[in-house]
Amino acid sequence: MRWSETGRWNGKVTSRPLPECDPSIDALSDDDRATLVSVWHARAATERRVADSFTLVSHALRELNAAADLIALSDRAIDDEHRHAELSRYVASRYAGKELDYPPLLPFSAPKHTQASDELRHTLHVLGQCAFNETIASAFLEACCEHANAPLAKAACRELLSDEIDHARIGWAQLAASPPVVRNQIVAWLPSLANANLRMWRESPRKYPSRELFAGHGAPSEPVIAGALATAFRELIIPGFEHLGMPTGALHTWMDAECVAKSPVKITEHRLQ
Ligand SMILES: [Fe+2]
Ligand SMILES: [Fe+2]
Repeated sequence: MRWSETGRWNGKVTSRPLPECDPSIDALSDDDRATLVSVWHARAATERRVADSFTLVSHALRELNAAADLIALSDRAIDDEHRHAELSRYVASRYAGKELDYPPLLPFSAPKHTQASDELRHTLHVLGQCAFNETIASAFLEACCEHANAPLAKAACRELLSDEIDHARIGWAQLAASPPVVRNQIVAWLPSLANANLRMWRESPRKYPSRELFAGHGAPSEPVIAGALATAFRELIIPGFEHLGMPTGALHTWMDAECVAKSPVKITEHRLQ
C-alpha cells in the first residue's frame, strides 16, 4: 500500500511530525496495550476500505459532471484514506512496540440503490459517503480528540479529523449544486441513507470495556460514541439538509424512532461535553 507523493502533504503521512516519545504508552499494562493495538489496527482496516468507497465517489462525481474542484478533492480523499490507514497502522505499531503489517483488506461493496436512476444513484453514493459517513466520522473524531490525552493518539486523531471534515464538505457542496428536481428525489431516500450509516457505525466491532483509560488513547466509550452519532445527526446532518431547503420530517421521525429509542444509551444524557 502506498499513498501519493503528490497527496495532501506531498508524500508525508501527516501535516506535522507525530510525537516520537509517548510515556503514556510505556505506562500501560500489557493487556491494555494489546487492546489499543487492536483498536488502532482495526481502524487501519476501515480507513483502507473508505479509500475504495472514495473511488466510487470520484467516479460518481465525474458521471454527474461535478465541479472540477470537488472531483479533485474526492481524488485526494482516496489518497487521504490510504494515509489514514498508514497512520492507524503506525499508531497500532507504536502500541505494539513493533512494526505491524496491514490488517487484512475489508471488502467494500457499493450500495446498489436499484430503484434509483443512474443520476440519482450517483448522487446517493456521494451523499452516503460524504454528507453522512464523513460527517459522522468528523463528529466521532471530535469526540476522540476531546477525550484523548495521550500525545500520540491525540495527534493522530487530530490529523484524521482535519481530512474527514474536507471529505464531508464534498457531499454538502455537491448537494448544493444539484438541481431542485434531484434534491426533491433525494428526500425520500434520506431515512434509508441515515439508517444504513447509523447501522454501520453501531456495528463497528468494539469489544473492549468502556474505560477512561482507553478514551485517553483515542478509543472513547460506547456512551461517548452514541453521543457523537446523535450530535452528527441532530446538529450537523439534519440542519444541513434543512439549510438547503429540503424537508426533513421523515428524517426527524426516523431519528426519534431509531437514533433515540433504540440507542444503547439515552442520547440526551451523553451529549458531547
Ligand atoms: Fe479516514
Ligand atoms: Fe474520510
